[in-house]
Amino acid sequence: MARPLVADIDLDALRHNYRLARELAPQSQALAVIKADAYGHGAVPCARALESLPADQRPPAFAVACLEEAELLRQGGVVAPIVLLEGIFEAAELARVEALDLWMAVHSEWQVNALLAYRPAKPIPVWLKVDSGMHRLGFTPEAATEVWERLARRPDSVTAIQLMSHFATADAVDAGYFRQQLACMRELAQRLGAPLCLANSPATLAWPESHGAWVRPGVMLYGSDPLEVASDATRRLKPVMTLRSQIIALRDLEAGEAVGYAGRWCAPRPSRIAVVACGYGDGYDRHAVDGTPVLVAGQPAGIAGKVSMDMLTVDVTDIAGADIGTEVVLWGRAANGRVLSVDAVARHCDTISYTLLTGVLPRVPRRYLGLGA
Ligand SMILES: Cc1ncc(COP(=O)(O)O)c(C=O)c1O
Repeated sequence: MARPLVADIDLDALRHNYRLARELAPQSQALAVIKADAYGHGAVPCARALESLPADQRPPAFAVACLEEAELLRQGGVVAPIVLLEGIFEAAELARVEALDLWMAVHSEWQVNALLAYRPAKPIPVWLKVDSGMHRLGFTPEAATEVWERLARRPDSVTAIQLMSHFATADAVDAGYFRQQLACMRELAQRLGAPLCLANSPATLAWPESHGAWVRPGVMLYGSDPLEVASDATRRLKPVMTLRSQIIALRDLEAGEAVGYAGRWCAPRPSRIAVVACGYGDGYDRHAVDGTPVLVAGQPAGIAGKVSMDMLTVDVTDIAGADIGTEVVLWGRAANGRVLSVDAVARHCDTISYTLLTGVLPRVPRRYLGLGA
């Protein structure tokens, strides 16, 4: 039998989560963010699953981080517009942007100069990135006005200009900084008469006032809840990835016996330990503390001992029927329907769902389930 670790990708759940984003922002178009290989889920199958929605429900465009990601989508048969969220990394990429019919963000003066010096056969849709407080990419709101006017004066090279900005704190309960960024962008958009694209997943889920012409959800499409406090909307999200394995060995320990590297976990009572085929060599986070949740035969259990490269160990003392071959879900949905959210696992690893999902390594086969898989 093959090694039992697999990442099941539920394309119906992906479509459900995308529909939820649209439902929450009915006046906006919803760009589907599928960068970083669709947050580890496989960009081509995810894009194609979303493209297979009925015409009035499918994403009007996808978003990726770079040209290489867009090329893979085009090679995979994705036909919808694709936005390069960071634009080009060198002027020479403009020819490929044009050939692949891409839309591009501009966040720096050199990109604007390169774009305006380039003469495309037909104008390129451009998203002008403004730094409203993230202090990462984009023009200051003051500089953005002038750049907007330069772009708007060149309809031969540039079309469909949108204003975009990224929130630093849309997930936080304290909305002070978020409101500051929102006010800044609204003022700019009003002054320029420009369409706005601001909302990432937390803003799509929790801040309708930030839904402009476009929303830009990423992680929520994959079923992760990005908010500090769950809401009715986030409770409707469905996990897309289930990281599923099995017990490959069992150990019965006396009280006081230790498990794994450095003997971090020590049996407080006579204990049964299950060895599971999944480790940091698969992308499972080595920072997982003792007690990090897993589902064994659909029942909650906890990690006991440090994660190894190819294996991890789970205390199954109280799990009736745990045996070699028993299903272990590291996150996602167990065969009995019970869900372990990737967010809960992330909290035990002092990280966020984004790193766990994008961190699942190529060694783990992806298995696509659902309509059109
Ligand atoms: C510019 C930009 N927009 C949108 C997103 C999507 O964010 P989220 O996954 O939180 O929805 C990201 C993600 O990092 C981003 O960098």
